[in-house]
Amino acid sequence: MSSCHAIESPLIALDDGIYIVTEPEFIETILHDRGDRFQKSGSSDAKDMVSFPFSLMNSSGDDWKAKRRVMQPDFSLRRVTSDGRKTLAITEAHLARWPAGPASLDIRTLLQELCLDVGCQFFLNATLDEEGKAAFMALSDAIILKTRDSLRFPLGRLDRTSYRLAITREKAKAVARKALAKATQQPDVAANTEWSGSFVTHTSSESAEWLCDEFCALVLSGLEPMSAGLTWTVHLLTSHPDVLERVTAEVDTARCNEWSAGEGVVNLDAFPETRASLMEALRLFPPAWLTGRIVARDTMLGDFFLAAGSALMISPWINHHSARFFDEPQRFKPERWLDKSTQQRLPRYAFFPFGGGIRRCIGEHFSLIHIGLILVSILRRFYLKPMSNSKARPYPALVLRPLGVKIEVSPRSTAGN
Ligand code: HEM
Repeated sequence: MSSCHAIESPLIALDDGIYIVTEPEFIETILHDRGDRFQKSGSSDAKDMVSFPFSLMNSSGDDWKAKRRVMQPDFSLRRVTSDGRKTLAITEAHLARWPAGPASLDIRTLLQELCLDVGCQFFLNATLDEEGKAAFMALSDAIILKTRDSLRFPLGRLDRTSYRLAITREKAKAVARKALAKATQQPDVAANTEWSGSFVTHTSSESAEWLCDEFCALVLSGLEPMSAGLTWTVHLLTSHPDVLERVTAEVDTARCNEWSAGEGVVNLDAFPETRASLMEALRLFPPAWLTGRIVARDTMLGDFFLAAGSALMISPWINHHSARFFDEPQRFKPERWLDKSTQQRLPRYAFFPFGGGIRRCIGEHFSLIHIGLILVSILRRFYLKPMSNSKARPYPALVLRPLGVKIEVSPRSTAGN
């Protein structure tokens, strides 16, 4: 971890045409560019590779614009908050299946399953059956392995992981195809509920293949980083009992039920300590720890010349761990987020777990609200502590997946408040 301090140069040349960008002003220029100088990825690149399903996430130009326009309404604050009650119900059902006595849990897998149900409920107004869930969990693992391999062996093609990804992607797509068809036949579509306007109901023969890919991509985009964010927060809380105690006290006194009340805005305002812990977890372990852009044409970035085709890497991890921006950057100190002063003082791209600019995470509100709901529900029901054999470590792939987080849960007598 301490080696991160050494990276203080605004633009680090790893090789000819491969750079890591750390200067917040440069990051702003790159992320806010509308694709003329810096592009996320060429559509053709993505189509040729065995990769993430072809979707909003990895499309570009007009294709990206059209997809984002269709999908943006699904992620409005109103739509995202309107699902709070359903998320609470799903979480309660999951937690009811957790052990009734003290037990040790592999928390990441459990939270991943929970996030999968929450995401499917949001997009399909229904959850998947066990076989469908297994297909998506397998696809998620395959993406993580494949992207991890590209980091470890950037020049090689590792056919085993490509093959696994291709197989799991087809299986998940078959599940998605069925689930989407079923979703559009639900009575709610006709009843014009909040969900009925969802992009998944716009199925037409031309868009069917895209919707199928997009649905798979959304489940992955939500499932992996959301469950990683949740798991890292639980890990950090259990390894800092003083903070856990403060957060638990807050959760006990706040009136949770107001969260999911009808038209009311569901947010973390009633839970400042919980929110601060989540922000601090996203700082220390940003799930989307690395992204990149390709230089579209010869250009200058400050005084630096960048040739067309250069690859730029941008890592929230690096800036989030820099002593330039944070005092005691390696320490879990949620209190730094308790008032607005940290955020007001920081340059815009010192802390950016959800990216920024035109490709900013579409699921940001969804994640913060629904992670918060899940976290509060867990803390109201269980006492948590780390297992002595818990050896948390980040597994950097497409997402910074937490491995080895084992916690002990004991039901609280106040459960069900
Ligand atoms: C803690 C949770 C999450 C984190 C930290 C996160 C982070 C990010 C980041 C950093 C980007 C920008 C990548 C770039 O600029 O190259 C991004 C994009 C995106 N995220 Fe998230 N994300 C999270 C949850 C979600 C959820 C729940 C969804 C949907 C269900 C989602 C869907 C997307 C999509 C579709 C994009 C691409 C947007 C575009 O290119 O227009 N994310 N996310």
